Amino acid sequence: MKDNYKVIITSQEIQKRVSQLAAQITADYADKSPVVICMLKGAVYFFTDLTRQINLPIMIDFARLSSYRNGTCSSEMCVIADITATITNKDVIIVEDIVDSGKTLAYFIEMLKAKNPRSIKICAFIDKLERREVDIKADYVGFDVPCGFVIGYGLDYAEKYRELPFVAEVIDPSKL
Ligand code: IMP
Ligand code: MG
Repeated sequence: MKDNYKVIITSQEIQKRVSQLAAQITADYADKSPVVICMLKGAVYFFTDLTRQINLPIMIDFARLSSYRNGTCSSEMCVIADITATITNKDVIIVEDIVDSGKTLAYFIEMLKAKNPRSIKICAFIDKLERREVDIKADYVGFDVPCGFVIGYGLDYAEKYRELPFVAEVIDPSKL
């Protein structure tokens, strides 16, 4: 299994970048109290590391969307869990593991806009800009990964490998 992935971002590199992002968010939102939303499950490690270094009176919340179709989903996207916080007139930061086609975030942002927040920004651990299909731009990006399938630090392959403390690129997905 191990010889089927290649580490591309080490744990140390992740921690350094997360600290930089937290410092940037802290500066950008000075005197504000943003609601920071974790997109489950993929963003969980990024979110917990990041929010603990944001030096502001934040509120945290969680949402879970899935693009899998099943009996309870009417559209392409399925809301498994929505946020519970009131975000009317609040500044919202969405923390996502990876922005790929952008469809998940595009859908979620429309849902949030209906609740009339003051602002919405996106903080993505990984941005796959080359693969974008809809007009979504992350405001804060941990790392750019142009192509390939990545696992670790929350990112899964068929629900596995999320717990790896680094990010690795899968060499042959059929062997995982
Ligand atoms: P989007 O709606 O196409 O932007 O999809 C984003 C979701 O696809 C992410 O939240 C991930 O769950 C999943 N995803 C996309 N690329 C990867 C990858 O390289 N590794 C793991 N998950 C991925
Ligand atoms: Mg996922």
